[in-house]
Amino acid sequence: MRLDYFIANSANVSRKEARRLILAARASVDGVICKKAATQLSGSERVTLDDESMVLPGERYLMLHKPEGVVSATTDSEHPTALDLLPPDWRRNLHIAGRLDKDTTGLLLLSTDGQWTHRVTSPRAECPKTYLATLAEPLPDDALSQLEKGVELRGETKLTAPATVERLNEDRLRLTISEGRYHQVKRMLAAVGNRVVALHRERIGAVSLDPELVSGNYRELSQAEIDSF
Ligand code: URA
Repeated sequence: MRLDYFIANSANVSRKEARRLILAARASVDGVICKKAATQLSGSERVTLDDESMVLPGERYLMLHKPEGVVSATTDSEHPTALDLLPPDWRRNLHIAGRLDKDTTGLLLLSTDGQWTHRVTSPRAECPKTYLATLAEPLPDDALSQLEKGVELRGETKLTAPATVERLNEDRLRLTISEGRYHQVKRMLAAVGNRVVALHRERIGAVSLDPELVSGNYRELSQAEIDSF
């Protein structure tokens, strides 16, 4: 890895800033000041910046309690994004594992590890996702069993995969689906003549939204949570 890449990643600064620091003689490799940004490192050198040892950060794995009005994107010119809720030096290279609509709240997983986010979202993994849905109308029993068996979404011919549906009360459901089609829960309810007025994701796979995380807050995942995918 080039010295400027190493400094940029370990100090969490841009490549341009890393080159500026190197040119200003603030970086050293194995105790010798190095002003060449393109210097190749084998990985065994001790790199310091202002006499402080630098190490490359590991991958980051986070859960965020997404509030309403925030978009699941890394950039957006109009709306606040999920990344805006994180400290600036945590945002670099983060991918979102399974987006939520702007008006949906709840569990969002993010990571710098692209292979891991792929494992979470890959259709082949059929990772179960659990949502709480508040409906505009009470849901009749026959509509509930249709949702469980599979429904035809508007504009699609393939039925949705079997879902688990638990009635919490007349107009509130807990739904677990193993697919991730576009606006899937809202479209499933539309397919049985109803409408979702509020949607909240509780769980993805074995990872549940931490009840201690208030809306807008985040935390790093435990090793067991990371390994569960
Ligand atoms: N299904 C939806 O319709 N919206 C979401 O945000 C997530 C699942």
